[in-house]
Amino acid sequence: MVDQLLVAHGITKQFGGIVALSELSFEVAPGEAVGIVGPNGAGKTTLFNCLLGLEELDGGTVVFDGVRIDELPVWRRGRLGIGRTYQRMELFSGMTVADHLLVAEQAHAGTFRLWRDLLHRGGPTPGELAHVEQVLALLGLEGLADRPVEGLGLGHARLVELGRAMMGSPRLLMLDEPSSGLDATDTIRLAGILNDVRRAEGTAVVLVEHDLHLVETVVDRLCVLDFGRMLATGPVDDVLADTEVRRAYLGIGS
Ligand SMILES: Nc1ncnc2c1ncn2[C@@H]1O[C@H](COP(=O)(O)OP(=O)(O)OP(=O)(O)O)[C@@H](O)[C@H]1O
Ligand SMILES: [Mg+2]
Repeated sequence: MVDQLLVAHGITKQFGGIVALSELSFEVAPGEAVGIVGPNGAGKTTLFNCLLGLEELDGGTVVFDGVRIDELPVWRRGRLGIGRTYQRMELFSGMTVADHLLVAEQAHAGTFRLWRDLLHRGGPTPGELAHVEQVLALLGLEGLADRPVEGLGLGHARLVELGRAMMGSPRLLMLDEPSSGLDATDTIRLAGILNDVRRAEGTAVVLVEHDLHLVETVVDRLCVLDFGRMLATGPVDDVLADTEVRRAYLGIGS
């Protein structure tokens, strides 16, 4: 049996009197793509933030690649191999597409040499530049490498975000609503690119997403959260056919 890459056990999180997550357990195998869906307020974003270290746990443990990470700061989890996109775009105007990826690569490797770069000494290593080029090619962004990010459409901007998350070659990519604001064409393209990334890099993916079509196209397994608990998990078709899921999530009576 393959060891799990991520094991979250008994996760509990409260906000005042609200129990956002209640003793929830969640696992991701190496290379596996898992979708997380559920009604508004079910706890999806809270789970995502708890796994990343953006929220402190009130109970439970998180182990990544055999290492207990639930008390580690966000950046240490990143160094261990968890890449993520931000729900809100965090792109820096004045920087090009390639710059964004380069800074992410250097930040990950701990070789970000801001003071030297400000003095125009030192620069990216050939290895860092090669990795940026490789990721740009995988995302189909080669032609936009030298463009400032502020001129990009939302679809391309989201791909830059994905590219940043991929720098440092994470073993797990966590994506929060990557299709948010995209039209149907860009969403389909994003699904294809996510599948390409998985094939090329063998990266495990956790996808919090409202667009069921995108989820179906990308994931191996679906988790449905409801009131901070895991209502169902399994192959997408089985889960979506589940009576409880249809009632809770899809709003379809039994
Ligand atoms: N910072 C916070 N302070 C207080 N309550 C919060 C906070 N964050 C989340 N909650 C509450 O915790 C519960 C879970 O919220 P969460 O944002 O995780 O749901 P979600 O499944 O991501 O919903 P959506 O589909 O609307 O994004 C909700 O009742 C929400 O109001
Ligand atoms: Mg949310």
